[in-house]
Amino acid sequence: MNNKLTIIKIGGSVITDKHTPFSVDLNAIKSIIGEMKPVKEEKTIIVHGGGSFGHPVAIKYMLSNGLKNREQVKGVVETSQAMLSLNKIIVDMFIQEDFPVISCSPHNIFITRNGRICKSFLYPLNYFLEMGLIPVLFGDVVYDTERGVSILSGDQIVSYLSIKLKANRVILGTDVDGIYSSDPKINPEAQLIRELNPENYQDILKILKSTTKNRIDVTGGMYGKVRELVRVAKHGIDIYIVNARTPGNISKILNSSDINCTRFKNWCKR
Ligand code: IPE
Repeated sequence: MNNKLTIIKIGGSVITDKHTPFSVDLNAIKSIIGEMKPVKEEKTIIVHGGGSFGHPVAIKYMLSNGLKNREQVKGVVETSQAMLSLNKIIVDMFIQEDFPVISCSPHNIFITRNGRICKSFLYPLNYFLEMGLIPVLFGDVVYDTERGVSILSGDQIVSYLSIKLKANRVILGTDVDGIYSSDPKINPEAQLIRELNPENYQDILKILKSTTKNRIDVTGGMYGKVRELVRVAKHGIDIYIVNARTPGNISKILNSSDINCTRFKNWCKR
């Protein structure tokens, strides 16, 4: 096993149908797991999103602004439970394919302050990695020092861990080929931006901010993702946003082959 750490996030839009509550896409998960064989024995962390499990519940109880009334406590229970059940489905499927995975609940690892991670307890996670285990984390409802609770996105977890643990590369699997000049699901003329660099990222963030108005996503959609990843890129870590629904993409990127995607390039060297 080499010592280079890969962190892979599989977005909720890939593993669930975001428009039908509690619908999991077993075929998509199975094929992604098949494509992840190259990292089975490598130092790897997997993070998955909430999709149609976490987001609808968090919205129903308005948890993204924190805990304001007693009724929302039920929402914390339900959101946490929704994420744990999605996580169990995914972890079980990895185990069926002989991956040495271990589920790690973010609400036991991270504390946020106004939605940003301010404290973490990473000893077990580090030790699991050393043992050759692959920790599987997920977007979650966590304790927040100011708001009571917050919805911690898998993207923020990826960004935090990749900087803290000095990841070698970060792969974000989504349901589009990468970052576009406008929303590709609405505008067929949208152009794929193949490279995000220190020269173009501010303009692109502006475009994404104006086009991200997704009401079923409490954690910011593509705009939220890119904002998180820019922090990572500034540490010189290689980042790829890829379409994990396109067969072959995950295995190709893990084997360092070129694919249609957005790569964060030419940031500072480590
Ligand atoms: C959201 O996690 C978690 C909850 C809503 C509890 P993410 O923000 O990482 O999920 P996706 O990838 O957008 O679905």
